[in-house]
Amino acid sequence: MSRRNIVLIGFMGSGKSLTAKRLADLLKYEVVSLDELIEAREGRSIKQIFEESGEGYFRDREREAVQEVADRTGLVIDCGGGIVLNPQNIARLKAKGIVVHLNVSAQWAYKRVKNKQTRPLLNTKDPLGRISELLKERQPFYAQAADLTFETDGKTVEEVAREISSRLSHD
Ligand code: S3P
Repeated sequence: MSRRNIVLIGFMGSGKSLTAKRLADLLKYEVVSLDELIEAREGRSIKQIFEESGEGYFRDREREAVQEVADRTGLVIDCGGGIVLNPQNIARLKAKGIVVHLNVSAQWAYKRVKNKQTRPLLNTKDPLGRISELLKERQPFYAQAADLTFETDGKTVEEVAREISSRLSHD
């Protein structure tokens, strides 16, 4: 593999950010989080961006963040869960990367995010219901975008990162 980027996609709570860091360590790649890039460019958190400027504004910044990194190589790219909503994002990321989907059930996603206040889309009275709804809507997009899919329910970050790394080293 010629230092093709590894693009991690999947629903909130699938473990993308931690898995991206561990995978980058294992492969000696650099890790880039699109959400962190957007926060740095904007000088405010994702939560603030949604609250003050709305989801549409965030999606525009997300598209720009993809443009900013998609031409580089040797990266593990940690994408926000909604990256797949714009097919252009995926086309750009695929030009130099392999798209890896971290699959998660609604129950496990909820388990992983329930104590965090950082996800504006889940700031509702019934986060598990919202997760189930959004996941159902998003699942076809993840499936369509993915070159490879890994299950994350019940697994540790270490297990998932090692599975991905060993699968990719056999490519
Ligand atoms: C979003 C997921 C978040 C973040 C934003 C929107 C989504 O990233 O980009 O809150 O639409 O699923 P994580 O998947 O890293 O939580």
